[in-house]
Amino acid sequence: MTHRILFVCLGNICRSPAAEGAFRARAPHHATDSAGTSGWHIGDPPYGPMQMAALSRGIKLDDLRARQFVPADFDRFDLIIGMDADNLADIEALRPAGNETPVRLLTDFAPHIGTDHVPDPYYTRDFDGALDLIEAAVEGLDTHLRS
Ligand code: 4NP
Repeated sequence: MTHRILFVCLGNICRSPAAEGAFRARAPHHATDSAGTSGWHIGDPPYGPMQMAALSRGIKLDDLRARQFVPADFDRFDLIIGMDADNLADIEALRPAGNETPVRLLTDFAPHIGTDHVPDPYYTRDFDGALDLIEAAVEGLDTHLRS
């Protein structure tokens, strides 16, 4: 079954494009996109160091461009996935009345990784650490969607 899945972070240049890229590499039959709760990087490609770290794992991100999350995304997607609690709060603040689209944390799909958020590598500079969490979680997401 094909799902429509939106990955969301703050800037849409590090974590959510990496999650989209890692997920579509694993499960290309789904319709995916990513967005930022901020509009700071609209139109920008993923951050260079994240593109490089992803590419070293065979994950290409260069076709992606940042956009801002909008209320209409609640109707366009079946599942919206944020990277941290701030993302979830910012997403929920835009939920249209009556909409029931599930909004989840990416880390919910990999409880064994022992964290409730993906630390922002734009600040931590740990791009590989973020990708380790993201790859484990999108594997869990893929398994969840198959079950
Ligand atoms: P992201 O990381 O939310 O994973 O894309 C960030 C990228 C840029 C900024 C913040 C977070 N920024 O402040 O420009």
